[in-house]
Amino acid sequence: MGMTDPEFQSIADAIERSGWCVHDGLLETSLVAALADECLDMDAQARLKPAAVGRSGKRRLAAAVRGDRTRWLDQSFSVPQATFLARMLGLRDALNRRLLLGLQQLEAHYAVYPAGAHYDRHRDRFRDDDARVLSTVLYLNRDWTDADAGALRLYLPDGTHHDILPAMGRLALFLSADFEHEVLAPARPRMSIAGWFRQREFGVA
Ligand code: OGA
Ligand code: MN
Repeated sequence: MGMTDPEFQSIADAIERSGWCVHDGLLETSLVAALADECLDMDAQARLKPAAVGRSGKRRLAAAVRGDRTRWLDQSFSVPQATFLARMLGLRDALNRRLLLGLQQLEAHYAVYPAGAHYDRHRDRFRDDDARVLSTVLYLNRDWTDADAGALRLYLPDGTHHDILPAMGRLALFLSADFEHEVLAPARPRMSIAGWFRQREFGVA
């Protein structure tokens, strides 16, 4: 289950064709469940912190812009985190074989949006730093329904938008430079792992 070559190919095809993609079931359900449980536990222990906006040096707390709590993943922290990060690097290698994106590191964090929290419309590539190439979001919410709201709203180049519900195991991917998007307020807590594939080493201008 999951991570088969045809799945990688269909993701690569979609990114090549339109710059974005939604894929269900790429990661095995036991891994997604372990990540959801860990995120819930860590948040209950107050190990996720209110997110900031902008890069270090210019960071400011910005609850008006985004209301999520986050914590960076680290492969040395737990087996689920290490497994997730390794799987995503497998996806990276498959994408790099097909597309000329030059993806290198993945930075990724758990995020919890409490009920009613949102993230204003934005782009993931910073004005002064073009390192982020491909944005990824894995959703960790069991039994999510339309009534739970909290969609990722992706603004498409043709002026329309596409709403993606944060259902368990769903992976959304889009080119960081090209797609404005926002997180609509959920009716209950909404968990995810947001990640960014970068195009060169950390700290290299
Ligand atoms: C982000 C973001 C989208 C989502 O963290 O930059 O846009 O659906 N997240 O959680
Ligand atoms: Mn974003």
